Amino acid sequence: MCGIVAYKGQKDCFPILLDGLKKLEYRGYDSAGVACLVNNKIDITKRAGKVKELERAIAGKKSSKNCNGLGIAHTRWATHGEPNQKNAHPHSDESKKITLVHNGIIENYDPIKKFLRSKKIKFKSDTDTEVLVQLIGYFYNKGMLSFEQSVRAALQRVDGAYGIVILNTDFPDMMIAARKGSPLVVGIKDGEFFIGSDVSPIVKHTQKIIYLNDSEMAVIDGTNYEIKSVDKDVSLPKKVEKIDYKIDDFDKGKFKYFMHKEIHEQVTTIHNTLKGRSTKSSVLLHGLSEYWEEIKAAEKIYITACGTSWHAGLIGKNLIERFAEVPVHVEYASEFRYNHSIMDNKTIVIAISQSGETADTLAAISKANDFGAITIGICNVAGSSVSRETNCGIHTRCGHEIGVASTKAFTSQISILYLFALKLADSRKRITKTDMKKHLEMISDVHQKDIKSVLKKEKSIKKMAKKYQNASDFLYLGRGLNFPVALEGALKLKEISYIHAEGYPAAEMKHGPIALVDKNMPNVFIVPKDKTYDKIISNIEEIKSRKGKIIIVTDSKDKILRDLSDDLILLPKTNQYMFVMLATIALQLFSYFIAVAKGCDVDQPRNLAKSVTVE
Ligand code: F6R
Repeated sequence: MCGIVAYKGQKDCFPILLDGLKKLEYRGYDSAGVACLVNNKIDITKRAGKVKELERAIAGKKSSKNCNGLGIAHTRWATHGEPNQKNAHPHSDESKKITLVHNGIIENYDPIKKFLRSKKIKFKSDTDTEVLVQLIGYFYNKGMLSFEQSVRAALQRVDGAYGIVILNTDFPDMMIAARKGSPLVVGIKDGEFFIGSDVSPIVKHTQKIIYLNDSEMAVIDGTNYEIKSVDKDVSLPKKVEKIDYKIDDFDKGKFKYFMHKEIHEQVTTIHNTLKGRSTKSSVLLHGLSEYWEEIKAAEKIYITACGTSWHAGLIGKNLIERFAEVPVHVEYASEFRYNHSIMDNKTIVIAISQSGETADTLAAISKANDFGAITIGICNVAGSSVSRETNCGIHTRCGHEIGVASTKAFTSQISILYLFALKLADSRKRITKTDMKKHLEMISDVHQKDIKSVLKKEKSIKKMAKKYQNASDFLYLGRGLNFPVALEGALKLKEISYIHAEGYPAAEMKHGPIALVDKNMPNVFIVPKDKTYDKIISNIEEIKSRKGKIIIVTDSKDKILRDLSDDLILLPKTNQYMFVMLATIALQLFSYFIAVAKGCDVDQPRNLAKSVTVE
């Protein structure tokens, strides 16, 4: 949550920082602020709301032409204190010498604040962040500790998570960054330094990156830098990595919203996820090779994740149990981390995460590691914390996902889980060579034309969406592999259009939710022509007889479905695995067009952030 960008070099900071904030806005957009060193004083500008408000404020300032090449900036997702200007970052200590931006939560802010108040230090905001900067200032201003020592002393006293970048007017050529629990990366380019809470504000300037680990700090002084430990004053060896993100990844192209672009990208992203990962007779997942003997002997698998990634986990459970016959438990990471799960070194824990930085998922991994389980990460961001903290893993390779609502990451996660289930089944001799071949043929022919044909239905889906834009509640109903698709359809709708929606197994609807149904209630049924078909028809009849509106997503041309439905999205005929993808894409478009029709901010829905890096 929250985005940090910082610059140290010779150029004017403002354009670099504002551009960086725009790239990071997907992490939170409650307020934005910048602090730069101007004539050896800290010049702070902050505004409630989005980066464009800050940009307007800066455009009207004289100082914007006069910045010495040292600046920090932040876009906020509010945790402690309302999302107003007073609570916006950066925050300074009382002496105004020390200023910082912070991601994460300082959990013991209350006793520290009481202590600092007892020393007559006054606070201006309601944030936990101000407590941290005041604590650094308290140590520094006593005159006993250097700048770096003061940062270290304060960080050793705080509990919780932080990614911070700090300036001190006494050291106009210096910048310190530190992390614990909240990611920070440092970009390096011939005497210039760029710091970001991820690579998005950096890649335009340099592809040479250092990923800070927990309890590490970067001390930048002039054109030199050192990576050190937060715990003691020692230098740490550090590898500079070369990343290959394309700048295009961060542009909307011809689309108005990233979400729309990302839905369309699935024509290629699913293909990219699967590419090179199978032969005609076997699945290759090189990222798991080192641990495959243990994985194949697993007695139990946990899948843990949050939100959309958790829905992918439910599909994974179905596939793994079906093909490989290993029991799979799927748990929300926020629950898993505190549950009494029974794990040992014969347990596999698969953590799924688009961002690779979700705090609950990371805590779940850490718990599994402590139990000695083998941890596997299925993650989209190479170099992210999930990739680094699991024993082994597979990248989904679907490119940067910027729209807050996850779309292309979900279909890529399912693709990986499909491959994993087949590989496990093969190693455990639970699948015949002929069946394996059939699945792999399906995988190699990734049905790009089928995805395209769903995308071509945009116009009719848009028309349908307009018809339902004023509904206040929706039910999404599916069975088997398509129950998670129903959950995901409902989640997409509620997060971007603010319409209440619930996903249910189609038959379970009788056990309560049916009480909600009346003539105004749209019910979205996901109906593949498979063994559940007849049963779902009965479920549709049950709703129809209560006058509920029926929307059907199907690959069947049967007349009965047309007769039963108020609206119908007909998908191309493929197979049950591809159906899941196609139905998901159709429902993503449906939610998208409802949200657009309602005038919602699709890429940045209220109260949300892309990367949930707090518990
Ligand atoms: C929904 C959505 C969230 C994320 C969840 C987990 O559209 O984006 O529910 O899926 O916050 O995020 P990752 O996958 O980054 O761990």
